[in-house]
Amino acid sequence: MFLDLGLAFRQALALLALLDIVYGQATPTAPTYDPSPFNYFGTIDAMTLNVADGPLAGGTITVNNLTVTVPKNTLITLPSITVAWSEMFTVDDAGNATPQLPLLGTVSWEANVFGNVVSGQDIAGLIFIFQETFQLLQGFITDIDYTTGHFWVRSLECVLNDPLGRYGLPYTDNPLWTVDPDNPSIHTATGVPVCIPRNSTDSECPLTNRPTDGNGNYLTSYNFPDPALVSAGDPDPRIMVPLVVGDYITFSGTKVEGDLLAVYSLVANLGIYTSPGTKPAYMYVEAAQYAIVVGDPTVESDQTRATAQASDPTVPIQWFAMDVDPCTGVVSERDLLLVQPESAAPVGLTKFPLGKTDASPPTRQVGFRYTNGVSVGPKGIMAGQYYQPIYTFIFPELISFGSPELPNQFDLIPFLAMGSGPLVFGNLLATPLPTPTIVGQLDPWPGDILPATTSCAPIVSMSATVTSSSAPASSSTPAGGVDVIVIISATSSNRQGVTTTTVTALTSSMTAKLSMQILGTQDVPSEPMTALGNGEFTLSVGTKGKATEAIITSTGGGVAVVPL
Ligand SMILES: *[C@@H]1O[C@H](CO)[C@@H](O)[C@H](O)[C@H]1NC(C)=O
Ligand SMILES: *[C@@H]1O[C@H](CO)[C@@H](O)[C@H](O)[C@H]1NC(C)=O
Repeated sequence: MFLDLGLAFRQALALLALLDIVYGQATPTAPTYDPSPFNYFGTIDAMTLNVADGPLAGGTITVNNLTVTVPKNTLITLPSITVAWSEMFTVDDAGNATPQLPLLGTVSWEANVFGNVVSGQDIAGLIFIFQETFQLLQGFITDIDYTTGHFWVRSLECVLNDPLGRYGLPYTDNPLWTVDPDNPSIHTATGVPVCIPRNSTDSECPLTNRPTDGNGNYLTSYNFPDPALVSAGDPDPRIMVPLVVGDYITFSGTKVEGDLLAVYSLVANLGIYTSPGTKPAYMYVEAAQYAIVVGDPTVESDQTRATAQASDPTVPIQWFAMDVDPCTGVVSERDLLLVQPESAAPVGLTKFPLGKTDASPPTRQVGFRYTNGVSVGPKGIMAGQYYQPIYTFIFPELISFGSPELPNQFDLIPFLAMGSGPLVFGNLLATPLPTPTIVGQLDPWPGDILPATTSCAPIVSMSATVTSSSAPASSSTPAGGVDVIVIISATSSNRQGVTTTTVTALTSSMTAKLSMQILGTQDVPSEPMTALGNGEFTLSVGTKGKATEAIITSTGGGVAVVPL
């Protein structure tokens, strides 16, 4: 006898339908919950901007066909700068916003979006945007054109995306996807900044900084002398190291119009160290991740850790979190871990294994500084310290599978829950806002419970008291006769594109004199400050565009860095 499958199936269906009628049930589903967390890592289909909401406007981002609300006050961390969502777009006279993603549609642009679904709406908390996230290229430099600053790795034509011309000729076509103008993101494997000569006699990128062997070949490893002992024509750690044909480089960039790779990060395989204990000394940060720690037994938190590479392995490096005042934007440093770099191969490698130690609250950026302080490096680069944005915030993971996923706890991230002070455009070529506006809490909030906010007085100028002395280890015990600098006040205000920065500082030495240098869109070289008596000095400096840091140096050897 044949088994009539069709009949059996129809009977089964009829039975199910009957059960549905009897019990009033549809097909069963697993119970869902709201809010629920999400982390989308995928291809960007579309991005929109709520143009009418001004510079801190939000919008939407669609990743693999899933549309997420981008709250107002969202800032995006790019390879070297942090920008407002509005800076990701160009807006025409008719008010149409177009994403500033070069070659969108022909090249893969990707987003990593963390958020929560709240009342059925996907709301973002953290967004990272990349072109070809995992792009990493390597090879020998096969040609360099000094007149354009372009260089080649065989058939691939590259240019440093360097709007301010720190490491070579300026390139201004794609000012979002740039090198880092303040930290040496174009560097040797030991963190020393490298450059593309602007011509064959470029004194800021001289071939004398690449000594040769007996056969006339450029050395790929050597030690810089103490800068105090450098004589003319010697390699000099105060000047960048030129890249030459034959250097082996590891690099990433953004593909842009004209078949060009606009490079934002480059490591040259050069083992160049600075003389022990001297300045400038350099470092760069390879990786830094921040674990979000939640007091909930159903989840497990990950580790907070970082890895850096130092040009001077003899001086310990302090790792610190950078807490930001939600009203003034002033940064206070919070020490995380002090580590001595490796003295054996790989010399200079410095691991910061904080492990499961709770480093809360997480900060958008972290900093690293040699304990003997910073100095002014070539072309306004800060030597001796490195500020690193966090690209990897690690949210806790469930340890009992099947229980509800915990919503992402953005309320534990102060720069999202409370804001981060006055908006400073990340784009180095952007015209600053005529009147400051404060970056506040994400709106709508990506969670079901609104965290408390801080009410900030409307700002006319940014002002704060900062005590950021980078003199040795502790600021109360000057070592080796170096004086300690205490910042009494630091204000930076912007009026019609001109930033006026005023700093008053005190030195612990009664004989020292202080000078101030400004780093930012327009660098101002060190200028003597005016003595007010009793070791107190003051100076006001006007700059075009954004001022990011004031560096106070003393004839007594002390240095203090004031983030602005
Ligand atoms: C994306 O969403 C639209 C509208 O909901 C739908 O028509 C389309 O099939 C979806 N595409 C993919 C690839 O899922
Ligand atoms: C070489 O480049 C440097 C830096 O841009 C410039 O100051 C100098 O005048 C240039 N020299 C020549 C000969 O073009």
